Amino acid sequence: MQDIIRQLEGKRARARAGGGERRVKAQHEKGKLTARERIQLLLDPDSFEEWDMFVEHRCTDFGMDAQRIPGDGVVTGYGTINGRLVFVFSQDFTVFGGSLSEAHAEKICKIMDQAMKVGAPVIGLNDSGGARIQEGVASLAGYAEVFQRNVLASGVVPQVSLIMGPCAGGAVYSPAMTDFIFMVEDSSYMFVTGPDVVKTVTHETVTQEELGGAVTHTTRSGVADLAFANDVEALLQLRRLIDFLPSSNKQKPPVRPTSDSADREEPSLETLVPANPNKPYDMKELIEKVVDEGDFYELQPNYARNIVTGFARMEGSTIGIVANQPMVLAGCLDIDSSRKAARFVRFCDCFNIPIVTFVDVPGFLPGTAQEYGAIIKHGAKLLYAFAEATVPKVTVITRKAYGGAYDVMSSKHIRGDVNFAWPSAEIAVMGPKGAVEIIFRGDLKDPKAIEARTEEYREKFANPFVAGHRGFIDDVISPRATRRRICRSLAMLRDKALENPWKKHDNIPL
Ligand code: HXC
Repeated sequence: MQDIIRQLEGKRARARAGGGERRVKAQHEKGKLTARERIQLLLDPDSFEEWDMFVEHRCTDFGMDAQRIPGDGVVTGYGTINGRLVFVFSQDFTVFGGSLSEAHAEKICKIMDQAMKVGAPVIGLNDSGGARIQEGVASLAGYAEVFQRNVLASGVVPQVSLIMGPCAGGAVYSPAMTDFIFMVEDSSYMFVTGPDVVKTVTHETVTQEELGGAVTHTTRSGVADLAFANDVEALLQLRRLIDFLPSSNKQKPPVRPTSDSADREEPSLETLVPANPNKPYDMKELIEKVVDEGDFYELQPNYARNIVTGFARMEGSTIGIVANQPMVLAGCLDIDSSRKAARFVRFCDCFNIPIVTFVDVPGFLPGTAQEYGAIIKHGAKLLYAFAEATVPKVTVITRKAYGGAYDVMSSKHIRGDVNFAWPSAEIAVMGPKGAVEIIFRGDLKDPKAIEARTEEYREKFANPFVAGHRGFIDDVISPRATRRRICRSLAMLRDKALENPWKKHDNIPL
């Protein structure tokens, strides 16, 4: 028995050594942690239960039979984050460049299947040279097995990808189908075809970083949600994200005790909206003053900044926030912001997270770039997402709610449960100036007459009461009381039950 135990320890030690000292050193020299060091940081101390440590590849071509490393380039298993179960796979770049063999894929699939059975998130720490070149199509099959599980798990358990090294070619499509993608600056990249192929095909010269680095994907493409300076920061922030999420679609989000009173008033909100309707203000100030302890976990902060999305808590329970940002493009909806917010709304709806929407939107961004880019379809995504969502929906209109964008932003008409307006709200088909120009087109030449008509329109429509008269908003609330009113609404909605008609699946405009 002692011999066998010694043998076991030897095998474990070999697996833990990964690709060996030289390659571990190289990994560290690149500023990257190893697969196991990452798991240690991600999970609660001593909570990791490793599976399949002894799995090896079955390839015999290209001398691979002489090169077997237990674990085969990915560390898999489960553990806890602040006491809550998660499944994790962490690709080991020191072993065959973290490349994905058939066996490597089977290990990932095994934990994904188990996560689905028990209802717990799957976290992927990606650091891989892609398909194991020596294995050919067996490796492609392995990817497809993972893809299939990504799709089946979507909306059942949260899936989060952290890109901590290369992620190229078809390999990008597994992270792409997960709910959130985090990247590490300077050491990770994602692209479908790399700089060399780009050069050959389009004659563009571009670096890896420019093509698919963390900055590119968090500012230009919107593929990634957040970027962090290093592995440690990324892993710690991933722990924070998990704290906001339910373990599966059958559970409610976790509740964290808070000392922030639901009744807390915030008098400074009374002066947040400037008297001049064309002056911007920072919507994030409102968010931070309303949510528990000012703790707002923003997603995609540097992409489509005209809309703000992220998680926070009210009375300890997770909420999703969607808010127009008047500081950027006056808070207009455009293609990028519609896509960004639509995906977020759908995530919240999948996972029973109530949505609080703050509205200050002058409409959709005009222009050929938007129309040719299919703003019609993309704007419809956000409308669709809000309209199909059955989770509790609370909306606060702080200022402008014009035109179609009023309808889109979780209005009463698309099943907003509680719709409030601040006294400064202007709910109308369009702003007073534009309205007068159209109603009196050509008739009014005198600037004074135009001004008088504009004022008349403003008084008549640029307020919350016309909508209030019809019950399209439930109350006009004092800005200082916003937190209390939202908390009460969410408490009232805690056991909301609403189901959409049976269907195989919907057909959201893609
Ligand atoms: C097998 C691989 C590998 C791979 C890297 N390695 N990628 N082994 N299959 N795909 C091995 C290397 O041989 C090397 O082994 C070790 O990993 C580290 O690689 P280096 O090249 O020394 O590291 P670095 O200089 O940091 O470069 C990393 C890299 C490069 C940019 C990822 O290795 C690379 O370009 N690899 C090939 C990438 C690729 O073409 N993949 C297939 C793409 S197609 P030793 O023993 O020397 O340490 C694809 C399709 C997916 O993935 C389809 C899904 C549907």
